[in-house]
Amino acid sequence: MTGRSLEPANEHRSTCRDNRPLLHGSNRSKLAAMRIVIINGPNLNLLGTRSPEVYGAATLGNLESACKEWAHDVGHEAETFQSNHEGDIIDRLHAAANADGVVINPGALTHYSYAIRDAIDAIGTPTVEVHISNVRDREPWRRVSVVSEVCSTTIYGRGIAGYRDAIRHLAARAAWPVETIAYGPDAGSVGDLRLPKGEGPHPIAVLVHGGLWRDTAARDLLDPAAVDLARRGWATWNIEFSRVGNGGGWRATAADVASAIASLMDFGEGHDLDLDRIVLIGHGSGGHLVLQAAIDMREVPIAAVAALAPISDLEAAHVAGVGDGAVEAFMRRTPEESPDRLIAASPIENLPIGIPLLIVHGDQDDHVPAAISRAFAGRAADEGDTVVYHELEGVGHEALIDPATASWEKVVDEVDRLR
Ligand code: DQA
Repeated sequence: MTGRSLEPANEHRSTCRDNRPLLHGSNRSKLAAMRIVIINGPNLNLLGTRSPEVYGAATLGNLESACKEWAHDVGHEAETFQSNHEGDIIDRLHAAANADGVVINPGALTHYSYAIRDAIDAIGTPTVEVHISNVRDREPWRRVSVVSEVCSTTIYGRGIAGYRDAIRHLAARAAWPVETIAYGPDAGSVGDLRLPKGEGPHPIAVLVHGGLWRDTAARDLLDPAAVDLARRGWATWNIEFSRVGNGGGWRATAADVASAIASLMDFGEGHDLDLDRIVLIGHGSGGHLVLQAAIDMREVPIAAVAALAPISDLEAAHVAGVGDGAVEAFMRRTPEESPDRLIAASPIENLPIGIPLLIVHGDQDDHVPAAISRAFAGRAADEGDTVVYHELEGVGHEALIDPATASWEKVVDEVDRLR
């Protein structure tokens, strides 16, 4: 893998389960393999034939083998179980009391089984609720979950990849201590703080996840990256914010991101954070949000911005069809309908930023074309910004945030230079 560089032109604590004590190891090699139990509820035995347009083509067998592989990939073991009977699921949960994690898709029982809720609560094993489909965008009764409040997180609408993300989330939570802190009044206005070992004050990496600004994506996507950065000496503040589908949109989302960053000023000193070394790191649409935050926020001293495969140009992304209407949904207008709105919210329209920029993009990215970053980095440099641009050959979109890849090594090497 080689990189192309463009050198500088001029040169409230949450009340959710997240605070449960977990197995805290200092790194993966010292951590014993976790035993993660994957439980699927009623009708999930029909995967592959049941409404494939909603649930996809994978069978339960495919899903269960994939879960075993995903667990193995992060050094852990998955056991699988499926039943159409509520009582059997409860018995399996009880048996999981001594497991290290549970991933459960209770199927339709999600929406009314207080017995399953109580079983999850009773065993106290960190549990992630998963739904293959986007339950928040279907019939109203599917939006209700009686189990969410006893789960560490809920993942929905990502297809079977949601199980992979659940496994990674459990692994990350076991690998490094995390404190979930509320930065605002809404249930979703929270972030996860991870502190590195040793004496502070620690440099701060603010992590802003991608997912096309949609609510099917959440901060768990950056859990593995957050743990890796903490191991390397960074304090990480992995933030959540409103998204399209749960109250977000260009203004509300940007306001949440700004509040989450500004909250560092309130709790930073108490946690031995170095408020002069705040680096914003965003991926995909999160790359858009960090660039835009650097443009809009003047009250917080941001030392540098690392934008990974960022949507730095909303018009170009719209024209390229990024995320199938994602820009329109986020802006609530097409660029043609509201050019002013676009200018206000598109980083490329607001250069120079005046803060050192690191832009990394894989040339095989099929979510956000690398051409967008190439043009953005060139324009930023022309406008006088200090920009380092790396276009990584043979690299796609997700590798840039996956600690198992060489691309991530490249990203963190560069990010380490910014501290
Ligand atoms: C489901 C969603 C539920 O509403 C439904 O009853 C299921 C599957 C999902 O994975 O999307 O059986 O949990």
